[in-house]
Amino acid sequence: MSKNICFIDGLEGILKYREIDVNQLIELTYDSVSYLLIQGELPGAQELAIYSACLREEREINREIINIISMYNFNIDAIEILRTIVSFISQFDPDIYDSTPEGNMRKAIRLIAKIPTIIAAYYRVANGKEPIPPDRSLSHGANFLYMIRGSKPSKLEAEVMEKDFILSAEHELNASTFSSRITASTLADLYSVVVSGLCALKGPLHGGARTEVMSMLEEIACPENAEKIILEKIAKNEKIMGFGHRVYKTYDPRGTVFKQLSKQLAEIKGDMHWYETAEAIEITVVREIVEKKGKPIYPNVDFYSGVIYRYMDIPPQLATSIFAIGRVSGWIAHCFDQYEKKRVIRPRAFMLDEC
Ligand SMILES: CC(C)(COP(=O)(O)OP(=O)(O)OC[C@H]1O[C@@H](n2cnc3c(N)ncnc32)[C@H](O)[C@@H]1OP(=O)(O)O)[C@@H](O)C(=O)NCCC(=O)NCCS
Repeated sequence: MSKNICFIDGLEGILKYREIDVNQLIELTYDSVSYLLIQGELPGAQELAIYSACLREEREINREIINIISMYNFNIDAIEILRTIVSFISQFDPDIYDSTPEGNMRKAIRLIAKIPTIIAAYYRVANGKEPIPPDRSLSHGANFLYMIRGSKPSKLEAEVMEKDFILSAEHELNASTFSSRITASTLADLYSVVVSGLCALKGPLHGGARTEVMSMLEEIACPENAEKIILEKIAKNEKIMGFGHRVYKTYDPRGTVFKQLSKQLAEIKGDMHWYETAEAIEITVVREIVEKKGKPIYPNVDFYSGVIYRYMDIPPQLATSIFAIGRVSGWIAHCFDQYEKKRVIRPRAFMLDEC
């Protein structure tokens, strides 16, 4: 694969997957973008039809998995279940010990297809409801919302979910992708690679920030409270969740899209409440940290996506695992790239000082 999986310009706020700007990619489907990341090129019409059909074919999970999910404590975050179940289902994969590119691709398709079903099944069971089987006529985004709610989402909601998965799909060597890549470098199987990614993703300084943003929105509750509460947090040296980034020193390009989408949802639903609360938080953070302290702390991918989930009635307990629905394609792309290198990643301890 010649094209770089990802390109980030943290000063200009540019993000590309396989040399294509994410602002173009969000006009495609998640299936196309997932194919692009994993195969290195956008699919042609026939390739896409085959890939999408394979993904839809593999969405179902068996009853044993639902039984295991039912044994869980329902007060925990869905990412805990997802991590366990991804590990558990590897035993059902007929290709678990087939490490040919074809065997790995079949595992990749199963993982991408089943992760949304596992999360939705947990959500349903945790709320005392029967899991909803996937609907093959629906896109990745629409099907996920359908499996959670039991009714088909609006066109806008389906599009927003699809864009969320696309924007979450890849981001170079972030903590979870690096973890995945290290595991892949030992030539461990794809399930182990994805479990490594999930473990790193759940931390609040990474994918877990999305859940924290949703809690913060609830704590602040209305635009009028934002300034006072944010000032208190800054005075206590608390980090404001959903702000700041190791690479971006300007507005995160994904944050820009999520902000627009959350405004669109707010307007269509006729409820500006969450959007205006978020905007009031942003105004205070930018004034206090960017303008007064000169630190480039802008909304990142997790801030306005948290607002979007509020509008789509997605509870905070699902937010981090939804990040994984998108990101799994990026982990797999890096895994396949690393498999080709056949070289274990083994940094020296002194290099940690640079991290
Ligand atoms: C993402 C993050 C881990 C990047 O961290 P980093 O590049 O290592 O930046 P640092 O933690 O070294 O912070 C640099 C400075 O900015 C401040 N800062 C960084 N993020 C901040 C935030 N979200 N709120 C307030 N201040 C922040 C730090 O306090 C530090 O100040 P100092 O120089 O006075 O000590 C960090 O911005 C953060 O914790 N954000 C909140 C969690 C989050 O949203 N994570 C999702 C990332 S996509």
